[in-house]
Amino acid sequence: MAMVCRGTANRRLEAAKLFVICAADSIERSNAKAFSLFRINEAGESRPFAIMVIRTHADNYIGYVNSCPHQGVWLNFGEGNFFTRDRAFLKCGRHGSVFEIDSGLCIDGPCKNRSLEPIALAVIDGEVCLCGVELEESGHPDPFDDGDDTMEIMIHPE
Ligand code: FES
Repeated sequence: MAMVCRGTANRRLEAAKLFVICAADSIERSNAKAFSLFRINEAGESRPFAIMVIRTHADNYIGYVNSCPHQGVWLNFGEGNFFTRDRAFLKCGRHGSVFEIDSGLCIDGPCKNRSLEPIALAVIDGEVCLCGVELEESGHPDPFDDGDDTMEIMIHPE
């Protein structure tokens, strides 16, 4: 579902679309979910856009593109888990790079000192929303569509 919000950019007001991703309480604290979306690029083309939304223990929501800076795989590749065992850091499931949750900075592993790409999130009326990205809401018709205008999203296995 798309809404329109207004934010400041370059000292002027710009209209930006805000997309509802999921209910805020659908992600437990110290947990994360991945979503496979499609974004519209500057050429107007639809491209896969995999993201992860993390709910921290302190109840903040943080988003990154779900792509490891090393080889571009989903962080939850393999075991379907995003975190180190103590859940203090994000971890890539392929070669084990470890990332700070708050900053996305890799502190250990093959892509040390590189960072995950952040995405802008806002929690509005109990829903996690993505801001500043043009998402495709059509073009992938659901044969079971009941006319509800809620955006269809696919959740990666955890
Ligand atoms: S692909 Fe993530 S550490 Fe290699």
